Amino acid sequence: MSETFPDPRSISSLEVLLNDLRVGTIIRTPGDFNAFSFEHSYRATGGFPVLSLSFRTATGGLRKDPKPVARALPAFFANLLPEDKLREAMEKHHAGSVRAGNDFDLLVALGSDLPGAVRVVPSDRAIVRLDNLPAHKPKARFSLAGVQMKLSVIKNTGKGGGLTLPLGDDQGSYIAKYPSTSFPGVSENEYANLALAEAIGMEVPERELVEQSEFEGIPKEFETLSDGKVLLVKRFDRGANGERIHIEDFAQVFGIYPSRKYEGAAYHDIAAALNVAVSSAAALEFVRRLALAAITGNGDMHLKNWSLIYRGVGDKPQLAPVYDVLSTVPYIPADAMALSLAGERRFKALNAQRWKAFANRARLPEAAVLKTVVDTAERVNEVWWSLPERKAIPPKVLERIDTHVRLMTAILGT
Ligand SMILES: Nc1ncnc2c1ncn2[C@@H]1O[C@H](COP(=O)(O)OP(=O)(O)OP(=O)(O)O)[C@@H](O)[C@H]1O
Ligand SMILES: [Mg+2]
Repeated sequence: MSETFPDPRSISSLEVLLNDLRVGTIIRTPGDFNAFSFEHSYRATGGFPVLSLSFRTATGGLRKDPKPVARALPAFFANLLPEDKLREAMEKHHAGSVRAGNDFDLLVALGSDLPGAVRVVPSDRAIVRLDNLPAHKPKARFSLAGVQMKLSVIKNTGKGGGLTLPLGDDQGSYIAKYPSTSFPGVSENEYANLALAEAIGMEVPERELVEQSEFEGIPKEFETLSDGKVLLVKRFDRGANGERIHIEDFAQVFGIYPSRKYEGAAYHDIAAALNVAVSSAAALEFVRRLALAAITGNGDMHLKNWSLIYRGVGDKPQLAPVYDVLSTVPYIPADAMALSLAGERRFKALNAQRWKAFANRARLPEAAVLKTVVDTAERVNEVWWSLPERKAIPPKVLERIDTHVRLMTAILGT
């Protein structure tokens, strides 16, 4: 198998597609300014299906095109790229055609397999294709956000029926999250937290723990040093036949760059946005997930760990399923909420007063918020202590989670 793919450094114009619909263009100017503009035909639809709420006005309809940005992509597109370990690996994998730290180059290389239903392809591949160069071995071209090493993978197609990397035009329908060298039992921790969320009635993707030996043909640059199991999660932005389902995270909703995911907005901003753009039920489901984060000691629910999903024709968002939930307190004992909850991040400070202040800032009814928090603490206690997935967690890690759950039950449960 071989592929001809244009050299990303030679590209200066990209078409932005939402599934097969052309929505706009990103242009890179010689001074390295990047400008995004919508297509006239897409403007004529009123901006449907929706690319991002950040491009819409409060009264409906599309905003003016955003201003060109120097040496960076507009925030919506910057948020589609890998952040840390996977970014390093992808830059190595595409070394020679993607310059380190260059978002535009990386977006060209990975534009065919981005989160959600957005695709970014060179505007005129016929002109820019380097026809006189030999065809190359197909490369991995998937993009997933986040700092942990992860792969988008295909299941049961490898020679031995294992897990393989999509190459060229292939697409993965699972995310494989590799364990970390600094956080023991992190895969098992997330596995149990996802099971807990599901047991209390939340929408959670299918997942399993797999051995690293089940992966086949993974190029060296994607390997990690860490031992232990890999968490395999079904992608909710890919359908049964590989179709793309659009999603956007709350850094994208608010037009905030990934580097500001821990401070760019507060939890009441997300709740208020859900209340207006989705429903009051979605806003209360968000409160339930916040209470779950507080009780499990999860200090990593930043703006990129909550998403909207656009199912069906893609005109109306819903709150996407739960992902990336784990107890961080076993590893970072002094950890706190990732974003401010009515001016407070410390877990211990999340008493009824604080939730009332949060309700007011989010414009949600106080009584409904308080009841949601109390009910969540109660439901967690009903299932956590006998949850089968607890057994997968290393004992020392589990002990710290349990201590935190007891402490927070007293604070949240009244
Ligand atoms: N089941 C899923 N289906 C579709 N997309 C997902 C799913 N799980 C995660 N994602 C997407 O992949 C990204 C990375 O996943 P995840 O948040 O689990 O990784 P992480 O490296 O632990 O992140 P962080 O940097 O927050 O620690 C998420 O931001 C989200 O956009
Ligand atoms: Mg994450």
